Amino acid sequence: MDKLSIEGGIPLNGEVAISGAKNAVLPILAASLLLDAPLTVKNVPHLHDVTTMVNLLSHIGATVHLSDRADVIIDPRTIKNLVAPYELVKTMRASIVVLGPLLARYGRATVSLPGGCAIGSRPVDIHLKGLQAMGATIDVEGGNIVAHALNGLVGTHFVCELVTVTGTANLMMAATLARGTTVIKNAAREPEVVDLANCLNKMGAKISGMGTPTITIEGVTNLSGGEHQVISDRIEAGTFLVAAAVTGGKIKVKRVDVDALDVVIAKLQEAGMLIELHQDAITIDATGRRPLPVDIKTAPHPGFPTDMQAQFMVVNCLSSGVGTMIETIFENRFMHVPELQRMGADIRIEGHTAVCHGVEHLMGAPVMATDLRASASLVLAGLAAEGKTLIDRIYHIDRGYECLEEKFGMLGARIQRVR
Ligand code: EPU
Repeated sequence: MDKLSIEGGIPLNGEVAISGAKNAVLPILAASLLLDAPLTVKNVPHLHDVTTMVNLLSHIGATVHLSDRADVIIDPRTIKNLVAPYELVKTMRASIVVLGPLLARYGRATVSLPGGCAIGSRPVDIHLKGLQAMGATIDVEGGNIVAHALNGLVGTHFVCELVTVTGTANLMMAATLARGTTVIKNAAREPEVVDLANCLNKMGAKISGMGTPTITIEGVTNLSGGEHQVISDRIEAGTFLVAAAVTGGKIKVKRVDVDALDVVIAKLQEAGMLIELHQDAITIDATGRRPLPVDIKTAPHPGFPTDMQAQFMVVNCLSSGVGTMIETIFENRFMHVPELQRMGADIRIEGHTAVCHGVEHLMGAPVMATDLRASASLVLAGLAAEGKTLIDRIYHIDRGYECLEEKFGMLGARIQRVR
């Protein structure tokens, strides 16, 4: 199994271009199932999760091509099998986003029920309640969600009891082909949901209010094909900004949506970093600076993203004081803590709160990746630490970071993949 070997302690310097957003591209690829003609998706990151989604779409019968320019073209006209099997769903929970489109377009779907995962139990009850409110019949049989809407879905008013990102995506996609108008309240406002809505509107959907807590979808009878460019990955961008902060370097992250990173930028400034904003780039200068501690509480967008919590913990671990981090989205998202402690971090966990006392240096150590963002925090800790860090189980990183070691290598890091 591949591992990442890092010789830390080098301030990172240079420029890095950010890839397309994982959490935007996955539902956009699934949206092709709603269409009557091919969808061309541009700026698709080369990630394991994308490969899993492509395999799932192929399993369903869509024809998937990769163009010379690495665009992914999905032709839904060959769909013949309305099933998302356990083998694919268990490797990627986001597979659940094929449920809404298949049900809306074909009147039935069988999608394996995702189990719990490393960061929490992650139920999909809100996805199912929303589809039922649109008239679907849903049974759970043999670990599968078996959904029917043989006479089509109907528009409804639905309040999500919790903000759910993929739940909002699923319901919004389903509602595009429902009869009448659907209003989703307490909807997720994440930029990735907005990107999906923009993509669907280009195909003929009538969605408004995306980016606000109330999304309104007027159902249409059919959607055409077309082309869409995926937004850039704000979490990848945030990870590189933190890399500069914890190594005392200077990095320009390019091809980013600066507005989508508001709260991350504000926290880096609070940590004492110099930030310069450009039109679609951000420069962070941490030269000669030790981070100040920051208090963080994760929240749905526009709050502080749970997907940046693990990375910011490394900032607090190296800070000159005490920073408190409260995780409110997932019940088990501190799996990186015992690994960071192996590197000399001083962190105490009390329920959903991690209290980090900054230390002057972390020390390299063999550590184990447990989920995607936890792995990113270990890479950051390894880049900052003195000596060698060996990170095991890096397949988690390959799910969501494109060319991670190449990009860090170009910034001066001594990082390599070893067996
Ligand atoms: N929840 C329910 N019932 C539901 C749906 C969600 O109780 O039906 C709960 C979850 O258990 C969780 C909270 O609601 O406690 C929020 O979960 P959400 O549904 O928003 O998460 P998700 O859609 O499964 C997406 C991202 C995650 C990201 C979260 C939160 C994708 C593919 N995944 O997951 O990304 O952490 O939103 O922002 O978009 C990652 O990229 O590393 C990652 C885990």
